[in-house]
Amino acid sequence: MRLIFLGPPGVGKGTQAELLAKKYSIPKLSTGDLLRDAVRNKTPLGVEAKGFMDRGELVPDQVVIGLVREKLESRECENGFILDGFPRTVPQADQLTSILKSRAAGLDRVIYFWIPKEEIVTRISGRRSCPKCKSVYHIHSVPPKNEGICDGCGAELTQRMDDKPDTVESRLSVYQEQTAPLIEYYKSKNLLSELDGSGAVHDVQGQLIALLS
Ligand code: AP5
Repeated sequence: MRLIFLGPPGVGKGTQAELLAKKYSIPKLSTGDLLRDAVRNKTPLGVEAKGFMDRGELVPDQVVIGLVREKLESRECENGFILDGFPRTVPQADQLTSILKSRAAGLDRVIYFWIPKEEIVTRISGRRSCPKCKSVYHIHSVPPKNEGICDGCGAELTQRMDDKPDTVESRLSVYQEQTAPLIEYYKSKNLLSELDGSGAVHDVQGQLIALLS
């Protein structure tokens, strides 16, 4: 299964991608996670990406495409993948099509998640993430068993730098300008399915599985 999860920041793409990847035993490729790792490890790519991410802007297309191409061409993705947060611009989507074409593969579905804007702000402001195993929590809706500690690996949870209110506003406008056009892009290719992400995590997961089957 080759899937794209599309939607605004904080809508729950990463949470749903993680659950579905486990269920179908396919990798989840999150460009946000890959970029945050590069920033943390201070690689040349991470150093280049950091300023864009801190300002809530998109990292330049060629940087992100290079990162994704390498992953998609690896054996890990032979039997499918979930792309979480990629593509985010029309040039990225065009490049993805040609990478897949060169492997005689196509996309199965693009899931567009949506929730009301107030809920986006609530979700992002309460998000806590594990820097080690990448698990994502919410202080109210998806709390860890022990406050501030990752259930999976015991590491201390952190708040993302780009989850500050001002940066969230920039991310939302960047989404509207540069990423929302992909809704029509994939609709015109008959690949888009819309999903109301406003229910509880397991309800949304149930709807997603029903939609895919
Ligand atoms: P990225 O990490 O991809 O951020 P994003 O797309 O803005 O998405 P988020 O991670 O904020 O949200 P999500 O939809 O995954 O929600 P989550 O599941 O965490 O990108 C970060 C930055 O990297 C970008 O700004 C850009 O600079 C750069 N970048 C990344 N990809 C790029 C690309 N392709 N091109 C260029 N630049 C790129 O959930 C949010 C919260 O809600 C959590 O606390 C969660 O526990 C909670 N939650 C989830 N589901 C529910 C539910 N159903 N009910 C209640 N709470 C819920």
